[in-house]
Amino acid sequence: MTLNAHKAKMLIDKSFRISDIDPRIYGSFIEQLGRAVYGGIYELSHSSADEDGFRQDVIELVKELRVPIIRYPGGNMVSAYNWEDGIGPKELRPKRLDLAWNSLETNEVGTNEFAAWAKKVNAEVMMAVNLGTRGIDAARNLVEYCNHPGGTYWSDLRKEHGYTDPHNIKVWCLGNEMDGPWQIGMKTAYEYGRLAAETAKAMKLVDPSIELVSCGSSGSGMPTFPEWEAETLEHTYEAADYISLHQYYGNRDNDSANYLASTLDMDSFIKTVTAACDYMKAKKRSKKTMNLSFDEWNVWFHSNDQDKAIEPWSLSPPLLEDIYTFEDALLVGSMLNTLLKHSDRVKIACMAQLVNVIAPIMTETGGGIWKQSIFYPFYYTSVYGRGTALHSIVDSPKYDSKDFTDVPFLDQSVVYNEESEELVIFAVNRSLDTQLLVDVDIRSFEGYKLAEQIVLKNENPKAVNSINDEQVKPEKGNDSYIENGTLTAVLPKMSWNMFRLKKLEV
Ligand code: AHR
Repeated sequence: MTLNAHKAKMLIDKSFRISDIDPRIYGSFIEQLGRAVYGGIYELSHSSADEDGFRQDVIELVKELRVPIIRYPGGNMVSAYNWEDGIGPKELRPKRLDLAWNSLETNEVGTNEFAAWAKKVNAEVMMAVNLGTRGIDAARNLVEYCNHPGGTYWSDLRKEHGYTDPHNIKVWCLGNEMDGPWQIGMKTAYEYGRLAAETAKAMKLVDPSIELVSCGSSGSGMPTFPEWEAETLEHTYEAADYISLHQYYGNRDNDSANYLASTLDMDSFIKTVTAACDYMKAKKRSKKTMNLSFDEWNVWFHSNDQDKAIEPWSLSPPLLEDIYTFEDALLVGSMLNTLLKHSDRVKIACMAQLVNVIAPIMTETGGGIWKQSIFYPFYYTSVYGRGTALHSIVDSPKYDSKDFTDVPFLDQSVVYNEESEELVIFAVNRSLDTQLLVDVDIRSFEGYKLAEQIVLKNENPKAVNSINDEQVKPEKGNDSYIENGTLTAVLPKMSWNMFRLKKLEV
C-alpha cells in the first residue's frame, strides 16, 4: 500500500477557526434557459407532476442536495426580461424571443410559480433584476410585487393573482454580468455603478430588509478585471451588501493535471475581489465590510460545440447540457473546498446550475431522472459541510502544470460541527497516478473516531453517468484509521474523499 505513495501532513485544531459557514454557500441557480424550467423542474404532462405541474422526482433530488437558496430567473436571460410577462393568467402571457439564448419563452412559469416551487424544495429565492434593457422602475415595482404586504397597486395585483402572502424575497442581484460584451445592455463600469447604486436605493426604499448583490466580473479572465470591481464599488459600496463573482472551468486542452489545478485561479480570484472590497472600505472610511456572493460556479465546456447546432427560437432546446466526467467531479469537489476555505468572506455561492443546464441533476423530458458525477461532491459537502470552517496547516508535495506552479497534490477543507460533535475533512488527491497518504494531527479532537470514509474514484477520468449506467458513484473506504491522535488518511490516485469523524459516546 505504501509503495509509490506521496506523503502529506495536516494539522487541525479546534481553535483554528476561519468562520461559521453561511449555509447559503450551498446555493444553486435555475435560469429560464434550455430545459432547466420546461422539462426540468416543470412538466405539466409528466407522470410525476404535482397539481402545479412541478416534477416531484426533481423536487425529491433537489431536496437531497439541501440547497438553501436558488438564484432566478437569470443569468443572461434576465438582461432582456420583462418580469410582468410572467405573472397573471397563463393564457394571457406573451410568448417572447429570449435574446440571450436564441430561444422561445412562453412565460408559463414566472415569478409566482418559481417562488411556489422554491418553497417545495425548502429554498429561498435569490431574485435578479434586469439592469440591461430596464432599470430602476421595473426593479422597484418587482420588489413591491413580491414583498409588499398589500394596499398598493403591485402588491394588490399579486394578491389578485392568487398569492395573498408576500414572497419576502431577501436577496436580490442588481443585474447579471454587466461587464460582458455578450450581455444585452452591457455597461461600462461607470454606467453600471451609477445605475446599480440608484436602483439599489429605490429597491431598499420599498423594502429596507432586502440584501443586494452588485455585479462583479464575469470571470477572472475578463480584461476589465479587477478595474471593474474598483470602479463599480466606488458607487455601490454603501448601497449593496455583496459583490458577485462568476467562474467556469473546462478541460479544453485535455490536460488533466492543469485542469485539476484550476482552483488555484479560483482562490486568487476570491483574494483579489476581497482586496478590492477592502481597498474601497479603507478609501471610503467605511465601517461596513463587503462580503462575496460567488453566484455562478461550475464546469462548463462539454456542450459548447453542440449548442452551436441548435435551431434558433426553439422551445426549451437542450442547451448547455454538459455531461460531466469523473474528473469534473474532482474539480467540483475542489471548488467547494475553495469556497469553504474562504467562508469568512464568501457568504453566498450558487452552483450553476441545478437541473439539465450545466447541472448535477438531469431529466428526460417525459422520462426518468439521473445524477451526474458532480452530484456527489456537492451532495456530501452540502449535507456534512455545515458548522465552522477550520484552517489546517498543510505540508503536501507539489507539482507544476501548464498554467500553475507549486500545485499541492492535496486539496482539502475542514469543517467542525460543534453541535453534532463531528469533524469532517473533504480532500482531493490531484495526482493522476499516485496514491496520497496523509497524516492528520487531530490531537485537539480527543475521543473522535472515524465514522465513515466516502471515496469517489475511477480508473477512467472520462467516465460519465447516464440514465441507465452510473459509472461514477461514491463508495465506502476502509483503509484509513486513527491511532495516537493521528488520522492516517489514504487517498487513492485521482480521488475525492470525505472523512467524517465523530466523538465517541462515553
Ligand atoms: O449559467 C449560464 C450562463 O453563464 C449565465 O446565463 C450567465 O450569467 C453566465 O455567463
